[in-house]
Amino acid sequence: MNPKTPPNPEFPERIATERLDLRRLALADVDALFEAYEDPEHLRFLGSAAHRSPADTLRYIEDSIARWDAGDRKEYAMVWRETGEICGSIGAFLGNGRASLGIVVAPRWGRHRIAHEATRALGAVAYAVPGIFRVWAFCHASNEVSRAVLLRCGFIEEGVIRAWARFANLGPDAQDCRFLWLPKPEDPGRHG
Ligand SMILES: CC(C)(COP(=O)(O)OP(=O)(O)OC[C@H]1O[C@@H](n2cnc3c(N)ncnc32)[C@H](O)[C@@H]1OP(=O)(O)O)[C@@H](O)C(=O)NCCC(=O)NCCS
Repeated sequence: MNPKTPPNPEFPERIATERLDLRRLALADVDALFEAYEDPEHLRFLGSAAHRSPADTLRYIEDSIARWDAGDRKEYAMVWRETGEICGSIGAFLGNGRASLGIVVAPRWGRHRIAHEATRALGAVAYAVPGIFRVWAFCHASNEVSRAVLLRCGFIEEGVIRAWARFANLGPDAQDCRFLWLPKPEDPGRHG
């Protein structure tokens, strides 16, 4: 690890956006989060397997809480402020000064621009954390929805990497992935 990178970068426990409250996942989120993570078709472009029951979701949340404390993944529940409902989760995977963003929005909350709003907010927050020099994301090369969201949020496409990752809901073969990078606010033209 780069010696200048703090081992446990400090992300805020809560982030408020225009319509959402992002906050640390809690065990009580299990049923709402299961709704976001249960459909293999919806999650075909997610690396991890769909959850078969709330027990899978509970294990997922427990792991997420442990990893928050360990400092290598900062994952938030996305709460629709007006009603208090949980729409999904968004996380930053951390290592060596890089933050890779990943998100799941429950199907019934799709097309509300929740992914836009949360991704923009978490990208900005990540760059405010000391030691983070690169905010990025990858998605399956055919994931046009994620690509649209990331481009709209200011990410710049860097290319397609062949056979980069396996996607549990698509089978055992490694899939081509699109890499995108969010320029630092003070350095917008670097890769543009
Ligand atoms: C990808 C995902 C996070 C998007 O969440 P969302 O809140 O519905 O996204 P938004 O409403 O913010 O934006 C959707 C964008 O995709 C576009 N879009 C929607 N369906 C589309 C389609 N079939 N083809 C192309 N673009 C599409 C919309 O036009 C919109 O872009 P625009 O507002 O610039 O026009 C959500 O579908 C999801 O959770 N999918 C399953 C998990 C997943 O794949 N996560 C990403 C892993 S990298």
